[in-house]
Amino acid sequence: MERVFGGLGMAWARFDEICDLYDEVFSSPPFAWVPEESVNHRARLRAYFADRSFSAMIALEEDELVGFAYGRALGVDSQFWWSRPGLREEVFYAEYPGRTFVLGDLAVRSDRRSRGLGRALVSGLLGRRAEERAILTVQPPAIRTKRFYRRMGWEFVGVVKAMPGSVSPKWEIFVVDIEPFRALITRAAKGNE
Ligand SMILES: CC(C)(COP(=O)(O)OP(=O)(O)OC[C@H]1O[C@@H](n2cnc3c(N)ncnc32)[C@H](O)[C@@H]1OP(=O)(O)O)[C@@H](O)C(=O)NCCC(=O)NCCS
Repeated sequence: MERVFGGLGMAWARFDEICDLYDEVFSSPPFAWVPEESVNHRARLRAYFADRSFSAMIALEEDELVGFAYGRALGVDSQFWWSRPGLREEVFYAEYPGRTFVLGDLAVRSDRRSRGLGRALVSGLLGRRAEERAILTVQPPAIRTKRFYRRMGWEFVGVVKAMPGSVSPKWEIFVVDIEPFRALITRAAKGNE
């Protein structure tokens, strides 16, 4: 089976397919869903593409979208850490340019899971970022998803209450160092020389 990975340009060309896969994956349990989320996600994703710090990685099999991962830099003026989740030392919550990448959304089509696609998408995306660390938020009931992230080296930070309009009342935050992912990409590139 032909499997192809692509970045930002290819993701933009597959905008509608990404939105359809997002709806398909996140509209069923364990994920919370409200009918307006489909339209909200579409608008959010369109705005992300206009953000210079946005990057994306998609996977195609036989020219069909089977997975995506995307995100952008956390703004230095972001209020993301306002509640100090996880009770870390103050330095943990400091934001400055180059500090934090936010993995916004990730999904693999249900009939294509457990074949390494999720790992490849996350590794490919993070490995090309210049930030020190990546963060993400997960809905608390998504046990399998959290297991997947832990397996990839992500560490649980704490729980935050959602912003108004969010599909889930609470979110769990995970964090990971990006350097090992960059090292993987560099090693793979050297191996191909
Ligand atoms: C989470 C998700 C992207 C993982 O994608 P995937 O292609 O199935 O994952 P992979 O096959 O790359 O698995 C990567 C690793 O995690 C492990 N893993 C995957 N699913 C797991 C699970 N449910 N429990 C434990 N480990 C798991 C695999 O064994 C693998 O480990 P290894 O590489 O050391 O062998 C996919 O299951 C999905 O789309 N889930 C629904 C949407 C979602 O949860 N998105 C994230 C929202 S924050």
